[in-house]
Amino acid sequence: DWTMESLVNSAVATIRRQVGQERVLCALSGGVDSSVAAALVHKAIGHQLTAVFVDHGLLRKGESEAVMSTLGAQLGIDVVRVDAKARFMDKLLGVADPERKRKIIGEEFIRAFEAESDRLGPFHYLVQGTLYTDIIESGTATAATIKSHHNVGGLPEDMSFSVIEPLKELFKDEVRELGQVLGLPASLVWRQPFPGPGLAIRIIGNVTEQRLHIVRETDAILRDEISKSGLEREVWQYFTVLPGIQSVGVMGDERTYAHTIAVRAVSSTEGMTADWARLPYDVLERISTRIVNEVPEVNRVVYDITSKPPATIEWE
Ligand code: XMP
Repeated sequence: DWTMESLVNSAVATIRRQVGQERVLCALSGGVDSSVAAALVHKAIGHQLTAVFVDHGLLRKGESEAVMSTLGAQLGIDVVRVDAKARFMDKLLGVADPERKRKIIGEEFIRAFEAESDRLGPFHYLVQGTLYTDIIESGTATAATIKSHHNVGGLPEDMSFSVIEPLKELFKDEVRELGQVLGLPASLVWRQPFPGPGLAIRIIGNVTEQRLHIVRETDAILRDEISKSGLEREVWQYFTVLPGIQSVGVMGDERTYAHTIAVRAVSSTEGMTADWARLPYDVLERISTRIVNEVPEVNRVVYDITSKPPATIEWE
């Protein structure tokens, strides 16, 4: 629509004026805000923008590839992917405490981003996908600070950049609309909230390759079934959790002793409170059947029927 188009035009003009001939850096997380911000800045200054995508190996199935194909190949943004998976797995080895996981992931993310920025730089400007609500929520604090405590996309304040925040006057729904106008796919524009520390906080206890595999595969099945049933936009957030317990089952004549998977699906408006989603039984049945059939490490599926409060949305 024309309002969005004129908004794009004026944002493009502003960014061009501000940036001049300088080089600009941005961090991509796979999320909506950083992607839309990058797409907008790219529209304004093209190859003066370099996007760094630190792939911590904790994203959902297909997401890393999607970042490269949509933002890189399709939109033509210069995206540099840093494959930091081994480094993150190494740092997470033997770490079971949720807050320590968050801290380690946040710190490693910044370290990897800084190293890449040093290697590719110098850059004069840094793009941040700060929204209007981030600024209101932060009160007197800067948007960068509020994002950093809850979001892996938050970057250190001591990096010597001038900050560009092209979304800072927009609400989330406007950012989605803008994303569509800029040619981002619906799957990205309507992406459900996903925590910065990724799948690591959906594995209770130690994060191992095998556990990551189980949570990633079961999550992919859940997402596929929610999508097929047309509930994608009705359910605020939905994912699987690996509690790390094993239980007895039976398969043919064989007794099994395998993992339990918890399915979490909630309705919410901003994540502060949430109600467990009343998914139809037939949808739950398909999810359960497919998980035990397609992921041999799992022999039991349970549904989390707790609201927030007293539970949180995530299990960690
Ligand atoms: P909880 O679990 O606190 O989650 O009810 C509320 C919302 O925040 C997301 N969440 C996070 N997002 N980094 C993030 O960027 C985190 O460490 C984190 N922890 C929770 C969660 O997915 C939900 O949308």
